[in-house]
Amino acid sequence: MADLATPLTIRTVATLGVADVVRDGPVAAADIAGRCGAEADALARVLRFLVQRGIFTEPERDVFGPNEGSDALRRDAPGGLQPWLDLDGAVGRADLAFVELVEQVRGHHRAYPAAFGRSFWEDLGSSPQLSDSFDSLMETKAQGIAPAVAIAHPWSAYVRIADVGGGKGVLLAEILKANPGTSGVLLDLRGPAQHATEYFAEQGVAERTDVVVANFFEPLTITADAVVLCDVLGDWDDADAVQILRNCAPAAGAHGRVLIVEFLADSELMQTFTELDLRMMVYVGGRMRGLDGMQHLAERAWLTVEDVTPLDNGYAIIECRRTPADDPPR
Ligand SMILES: C[S@@+](CC[C@H](N)C(=O)[O-])C[C@H]1O[C@@H](n2cnc3c(N)ncnc32)[C@H](O)[C@@H]1O
Repeated sequence: MADLATPLTIRTVATLGVADVVRDGPVAAADIAGRCGAEADALARVLRFLVQRGIFTEPERDVFGPNEGSDALRRDAPGGLQPWLDLDGAVGRADLAFVELVEQVRGHHRAYPAAFGRSFWEDLGSSPQLSDSFDSLMETKAQGIAPAVAIAHPWSAYVRIADVGGGKGVLLAEILKANPGTSGVLLDLRGPAQHATEYFAEQGVAERTDVVVANFFEPLTITADAVVLCDVLGDWDDADAVQILRNCAPAAGAHGRVLIVEFLADSELMQTFTELDLRMMVYVGGRMRGLDGMQHLAERAWLTVEDVTPLDNGYAIIECRRTPADDPPR
């Protein structure tokens, strides 16, 4: 379990696309290297190491072929593992920041900026390729949860729904498609917002959506009956998460709702929860929370938790309303 060579060799071949090159049968290492932009000797040594661990075959010297293990690394493999392992993609790259974990745990510095010289979000902001890869991974993730969220809450009670930090808009589009009387506004940074405009058109909801490029650490200029924050607060420490909520609350007006959609510690899925929590710590200095933690954040943002809808997948929809002015936060 403590070996680093296996995960890094797997990620190296996943990044280079080796499994796609050998998908139909054995190929000489030199040819694989030529098609993957690699150096033949180094690549052959990596592949030979993996053959000994059940990934790829070597039917003759310096010729490598596919097997079940390598097929799982193909770009078209069901389950889509490759984009998460791709070291040139946002999450594969962020995983490399785990080399700085010990210094983060010692309290010396945050892992991601120590590994890459700037924060995760600054890194995405400076590289369209990284930003696009993150949006695409979040699209995949959101497709896994959006259908459940769209049926678990009475969305038709709202006229206008805002999705703040909504990424490409997968969740908002799903909600709008299921509730024809609603309209939506998605707010995010420039890269995801651009993707959202295209996505809403593809999904046939462009006429019912606005897309706003904005920073949720500044006062929001949007208004809606419900403001959704899905998988956003886990990216931030408590002070930042409270600030985001404080900026969202006025957008929902006096009678609107702020709806936090998050994977909660209180779910049965503790292995997933602890992994996400560690990733949030290393990538972005964020943290995953339980319902108590979310309630505490809400209170500090003058919000009261009115209802909680747990979903089967470990997520919950936490419904908040603004706390009346005569009942200030503790
Ligand atoms: C983990 S993703 C979640 C995306 C989407 N809500 C989902 O569930 O798939 C966090 C989102 O927050 C956005 N974000 C990060 N910093 C932001 C900021 N300062 N202002 C607005 N959006 C921001 C990111 O661009 C990203 O789309």
